[in-house]
Amino acid sequence: MTIRTILITGATAGIGRHAALHLAARGHRVFATGRNLAALAELQAEAGRLPLETVQLDVTSPASIRAAADEVLHRTAGRGVDVLVNNAGYGLAGPLAEIPLSELRAQLETNVLGLHAVTAAFLPQLRSRAAEPEAPRARILNVSSIGGRVTFPLFGAYHASKYAVEAMSDALRNELAPLGIDVILIEPGPIRSEFSARSRASIERVRTEESVYAPIYARADAIQARSDAQSFGPEIVSRAMERAITTRRPRARYLAPARTLALIALFKLLPTRWIDRLLRAVLGLTPARLALPASQRRPA
Ligand SMILES: NC(=O)c1ccc[n+]([C@@H]2O[C@H](COP(=O)([O-])OP(=O)(O)OC[C@H]3O[C@@H](n4cnc5c(N)ncnc54)[C@H](OP(=O)(O)O)[C@@H]3O)[C@@H](O)[C@H]2O)c1
Repeated sequence: MTIRTILITGATAGIGRHAALHLAARGHRVFATGRNLAALAELQAEAGRLPLETVQLDVTSPASIRAAADEVLHRTAGRGVDVLVNNAGYGLAGPLAEIPLSELRAQLETNVLGLHAVTAAFLPQLRSRAAEPEAPRARILNVSSIGGRVTFPLFGAYHASKYAVEAMSDALRNELAPLGIDVILIEPGPIRSEFSARSRASIERVRTEESVYAPIYARADAIQARSDAQSFGPEIVSRAMERAITTRRPRARYLAPARTLALIALFKLLPTRWIDRLLRAVLGLTPARLALPASQRRPA
C-alpha cells in the first residue's frame, strides 16, 4: 500500500475527527487540523502512536491558513501533502428569508470561501507532489453533502454553500486533472456528529418572536429528532474517503451511504411541484399550520 500524507480540515469533531483516526490507523501520515487547540490536544492523545499530527487551522483566517501550510511544509521537510481533505463546515438552519445577512455571509465564508482559500494555499504542495514521477496522483477531497444535490426547505443557506462546493469542485476537477491532481466530492447523507446539535443551535441566532415561522421554530426539536433518527455513523464517510484516496481511478463523487442515491433519483424523477407539496406538508409550511391570519393566507 502507498502511504499518503493527508491533511484534513475540521478534524476536531465528527466526520473529520473520525476520518483522521481512521486514515492514520491505516498507516497514512495524517495532519489533523482545526481551530480548537484543546480538542486538537485531545485528538493527539487519543491517536497515541498512530502517525497523526495536529496543526491549528481556522479556514476563515488567511493568516492561520498560511501558517498551517508553512508548518506542514516544514514538518515534511519541504515535501508537503499529497491529499487535502476540505471537511470543515457547519449547517446554518432557518427560513432563508429570515436569515440575517451576517449569518449567511459567515456560512459561505466557512463552507465555500474557506474551502477555496485552503485549497489555494495547499495547491503548490499538491502540484509539486503530483509532478514527482514516482508519486501517486495528488488528490483534493471536498466534503459536500447530499444537500449539494437536493434541497430541503429551512436549510437554504447551507444548501447554497454545498451547491457552490459542488460547482467549484466540478470546475476544479477539469482544471487540475492535467496537472495530475484529482478533485473528488464526498457527499455524506445524515451522519451522527456535532453537526445536528450545532444546526439546531444556529436556529436561535435566526429566530425572532414575531416571525410567521414561529410554529416551525417551536417544532424545531421534533424536526431535528426525526432527521437524527435516520442518521448513519461517521465510519461510512471515512471508508468512502479511504476509497477515494487509495483507489487508482477515483470516481468524481462518493455518496456516503450510497443508498442515498435513491433520494436524489426521487427528486430528479418526480415533478418538482409534487416534491414541493410533500415537503411543505411534512414540514408544516402551509398557511394553516403557519398560523397566518386569514387575510394573509394564499393557496400554495
Ligand atoms: N453530519 C452530517 O449529517 C453531514 C451531512 C452532510 C455533509 N456534512 C459535512 O461534513 C463536514 C463535517 O461535518 P460534521 O458532521 O463532522 O460536523 P461537526 O461534528 O460539527 O464537525 C465540524 C468540524 O468543522 C470544524 N470547523 C467549523 N468551522 C471551522 C473553521 N472556521 N475552521 C476550521 N474548522 C472549522 C469544526 O471545528 P469547531 O469545533 O472548532 O467548530 C469541527 O471540527 C461539513 O462540511 C458538513 O457540512 C455533514
